[in-house]
Amino acid sequence: MAAPLTIADLKKLAQRRVPKMFFDYADSGAWTESTYRANESDFSEIKLRQRVLVDMTNRTLETTMIGQKVSMPVALAPTGMTGMQHADGEMLAARAAEEFGVPFTLSTMSICSIEDVASVTTRPFWFQLYVMRDKDFVLDLIRRAKAARCSALVLTADLQILGQRHKDLRNGLSAPPKLTAKHIWQMATRPLWCLDMLQTKRRYFGNIVGHAKNVANVASVPKFAHEQFDPRLSWTDVAWIKEQWGGPLIIKGILDPEDAKAAADTGADAIIVSNHGGRQLDGAPSSISMLPSIVDAVGHRIEVHLDGGIRSGQDVLKAVALGAKGTYIGRPFLYGLGAMGKDGVTLALDIIRKEMDITMALCGKRDINDVDASIISGRG
Ligand SMILES: Cc1cc2nc3c(=O)[nH]c(=O)nc-3n(C[C@H](O)[C@H](O)[C@H](O)COP(=O)(O)O)c2cc1C
Repeated sequence: MAAPLTIADLKKLAQRRVPKMFFDYADSGAWTESTYRANESDFSEIKLRQRVLVDMTNRTLETTMIGQKVSMPVALAPTGMTGMQHADGEMLAARAAEEFGVPFTLSTMSICSIEDVASVTTRPFWFQLYVMRDKDFVLDLIRRAKAARCSALVLTADLQILGQRHKDLRNGLSAPPKLTAKHIWQMATRPLWCLDMLQTKRRYFGNIVGHAKNVANVASVPKFAHEQFDPRLSWTDVAWIKEQWGGPLIIKGILDPEDAKAAADTGADAIIVSNHGGRQLDGAPSSISMLPSIVDAVGHRIEVHLDGGIRSGQDVLKAVALGAKGTYIGRPFLYGLGAMGKDGVTLALDIIRKEMDITMALCGKRDINDVDASIISGRG
């Protein structure tokens, strides 16, 4: 295959390199996957306004997200089991993000631990928190994120119960993988992935094993995850977490203006308009379709970010035009990572940066901070 030019190219390469159960884990949504598909397709409904004969020199994509400088308004989204797309995946992606000047968000359900990522980065990364029933464990995660100098806590609000993803059930997904004939076959047909994986010790949930009560070894993790995600999580808990953390807080998984208002009431620094990449409530609207009404409701009180379905720099530009101060990519960086390791993450970011830069120019703008709804010509 020729050098990858698009995120879709990276996806094809990742499919060839990553064992099926882990590639499918990234490329799946809940139930019929209708929300997963809508996240992507609704972006193409939005049309850009072409402007000509304006000065296009000296362009910049530099801006801020929650007051922190970013080289473009794109962060890496928290994704579980990233270290199964590629050995040491979280450490590689965090370094690529740091070099690129964009935030990296480490998931609670990562393979590499908070301390692993801190050991290979020089600037603060962000930590995503899932709230568990065991509050001592939650407090310990917050303490560890502070010790690692994380500069934002991303609290995920939309996954206290897991949306059913058929592919994962059919594949018998687990980390580390089970050693049945099917799983061994899936790995044996991906020898480069296996070679890298044999050279690392990091093959289980590094934030959990050895830290949470009764999870001394890998075998206890699935039971822990099933029992520990707290379905009683409420806005009161958000206040408690904000107090314990004491730093910048981002609430992730807001898809409704009423919830956005409640999130703004907590005094959080930002919300992420998100449906978890279509992995939770199948049938929910796409993130981009909900952005304008949420910006209308709370844009004057809190920073609004968005994730879900971004596959190009054009998509980022459309989200910014509709009021997002920042965006996040999940699958695009996972595909890059699975395809080519750290270089693939850099390439995914670079593909998006170039598309955004040229598109912005063709819309007659030179500074991402000047991009607004005037660059949108309509829908259809
Ligand atoms: C494989 C995978 C794992 C994910 N794991 C997490 C997670 O651990 N925590 C979280 O808050 N969101 C998680 N998400 C959701 C992402 O943070 C993000 O909302 C989503 O990927 C954005 O959509 P996109 O993949 O279309 O960019 C995950 C998404 C994927 C694809």
